[in-house]
Amino acid sequence: MKTAKLTDSEYLVKAGKIIRARQMTKIEKLFEISLPGGESLDHEPGQFVMVSIPGVGEAPLSISSSPTKRGSFEIVVRNVGKVTNALHKFDTGDTVGIRGPFGKGFPVQILEGNDLLFVAGGLGIVPLRSLINFVIDNRRDFGKVNILLGCKTPQDMLFGEEVDSWSKRLDVNFDITVDRCEDPDYNGNIGLITKLIPGVTLDPERTFAAVIGPPIMYKFVIIELLKKNIPERQILVSLERHMKCGIGKCGHCQIQNYYCCKDGPVFTYDQIKDKKEAL
Ligand SMILES: Cc1cc2nc3c(=O)[nH]c(=O)nc-3n(C[C@H](O)[C@H](O)[C@H](O)COP(=O)(O)OP(=O)(O)OC[C@H]3O[C@@H](n4cnc5c(N)ncnc54)[C@H](O)[C@@H]3O)c2cc1C
Ligand code: FES
Repeated sequence: MKTAKLTDSEYLVKAGKIIRARQMTKIEKLFEISLPGGESLDHEPGQFVMVSIPGVGEAPLSISSSPTKRGSFEIVVRNVGKVTNALHKFDTGDTVGIRGPFGKGFPVQILEGNDLLFVAGGLGIVPLRSLINFVIDNRRDFGKVNILLGCKTPQDMLFGEEVDSWSKRLDVNFDITVDRCEDPDYNGNIGLITKLIPGVTLDPERTFAAVIGPPIMYKFVIIELLKKNIPERQILVSLERHMKCGIGKCGHCQIQNYYCCKDGPVFTYDQIKDKKEAL
């Protein structure tokens, strides 16, 4: 895969046209965006863009689509505050500002030829979906693929149809759990995502784990992955920090000697394990 490049300038805001908008849940909305001239973003899975609205502000948002999707890209926005609330009012045909792609994503070339274990909790599926679909689109370049997903209730599962298609593939081991469910007809797993890890059969020496989820999830998932003897340098996590510039200039996202926006958001566990505030 081509290494992602910073097109033109890190400061250049491009006009991103919303070509599709879909309310996914009460608080999450998907936007498909195209750049002028149908230019592709050329991102690495795990990278993010800075999305801006004039007069409101700018927010870092993960690129959810795979780089194999050309001509447009997708983001999913959870409505939590000023910028995200304003974005939720946007629809097909509207224009937002786009800077990026930024940050270090997943090291795709290093992952090639190895087995993969994806662990996504809640909104973590949004960035991880970019890598999952990249791997599925280049399936022969990777070894065994395990996908573990967790969310609060079955209704909170994003990308339901796509997730369903992953679960039906014969070349993917798939499991999913929900924190709670009141539907008496539901016969799936109930419990935390950590409970799914002991049941996965894997060869630790050739397995890379990619983990994204709410902050509370990381500590417990990593304990389970270490119990499986996956080396610390093969555990990849994506961190979220408050960001302003997105390009290593302002210091808002600093974790000791790292800038999350530039040195991350994807880090190996051995890079950050001694930095108390990281997880
Ligand atoms: C690399 C990266 C990727 C991200 N990807 C996504 C994504 O794909 N989809 C998505 O919905 N969100 C994502 N986020 C989070 C998103 O950037 C924030 O929710 C957004 O910036 C909030 O802006 P706002 O103006 O709407 O909220 P504000 O009005 O600024 O704040 C609303 C509340 O959210 C808190 N908050 C703001 N930013 C963050 C943050 N980064 N972490 C924790 N709390 C925060 C504030 O303290 C406040 O309590 C990502 C963040 C990072 C750093
Ligand atoms: S957001 Fe400015 S240094 Fe990272």
